[in-house]
Amino acid sequence: MFSEAFLHGLPKAELHVHIEGTVTPRQRWDLAKRNSIELPFSTFEELVAAHEYAAESPGEVLRRFLELYYANHVVFKTEQDYRDVMYEHLRRCAEGNIRYAEIYFGAQAHLALGVPLPVLMGGLRAGIEEGERDFGVAAGLILSINRGHSAESGFETVRSMVPYQDIVVGIGMGGLEPGNPPEKHKDAFAFARAEGWHVTCHCDVDQEDAVKHMWQCLDVLKVDRIDHGINALDDAALIDALNTRDIYLTPCPTWWPGSNDPYRLARIRQMYDAGLNITLNSDDPGMMTSGMLHELLPRVTRECAFTHEEIGHLMANAFKGAWLPDAQRAGYLRQLEAHLAADRTASS
Ligand code: ADE
Ligand code: ZN
Repeated sequence: MFSEAFLHGLPKAELHVHIEGTVTPRQRWDLAKRNSIELPFSTFEELVAAHEYAAESPGEVLRRFLELYYANHVVFKTEQDYRDVMYEHLRRCAEGNIRYAEIYFGAQAHLALGVPLPVLMGGLRAGIEEGERDFGVAAGLILSINRGHSAESGFETVRSMVPYQDIVVGIGMGGLEPGNPPEKHKDAFAFARAEGWHVTCHCDVDQEDAVKHMWQCLDVLKVDRIDHGINALDDAALIDALNTRDIYLTPCPTWWPGSNDPYRLARIRQMYDAGLNITLNSDDPGMMTSGMLHELLPRVTRECAFTHEEIGHLMANAFKGAWLPDAQRAGYLRQLEAHLAADRTASS
């Protein structure tokens, strides 16, 4: 059994969440109105219903999800929009004791919709600075290259981030996986590493060539982390390599309106038991029924049968895998240890 109060008070970090996916249908509806943008839904209820997709295969789930995800980007127009969405996300983080977040943003999609880079980056920066000031939640950005775009576009987008190295802590990759293996973007990743950035890459759940893609992440992209990465379980040598190389993984025990079954949980438990450095993440909390990290944590703890100590270990992994200055990391780990120590005392 676990205690809700223990989970609530737990100092948390999240390493895998997309700013665009934090936007709830209500926020989306309101932003569209504010910017006089016509959504392809005539009522708010229709917009909500669009999130209730069901799909046949894992590839189809990702395709349906991304279709909705990218279609929703149209509501962003001004610096204020980006600032408000980031600020609101950090406000919700504070409610759940998420004290540090690394947050993906996908520049290419916004630029393609006509948003100038300084508008996007200025808004995200303002949201981060004001969120930290008002809620005490620190955040860093991760650029998500869209793997479906050309290698040249990925490379140029990474290069355009050089002036923003104070807020962009790492480079990663998302988007549609079939036909877009990690090695396609090897030059962009080599450039990112040469610039001193940490790197990560999505290896989504049960996609075609999932294991092969994970090996490419290790051997070609030379990543520090892998997003999702659940299919590591399909290859014992890969588990060994991930553990030996001290790679952190960011699986997401999420569920969405069309499938209230958090079907990834059994494998997340297996990853933990295999000694992998896993963290827990919400991915797209505005679009999933599972919601924010602190909202999904009770169900995940119960259904994975994680003890308080194991949850503490998972959260320590998040702070250890974070791209933070060592002193800041040590401070968070001390807060986490104090919470665990108080819990041990209370239950002895
Ligand atoms: N963009 C937002 N969420 C994503 C995911 N789970 N996989 C790939 N790209 C994404
Ligand atoms: Zn993701």
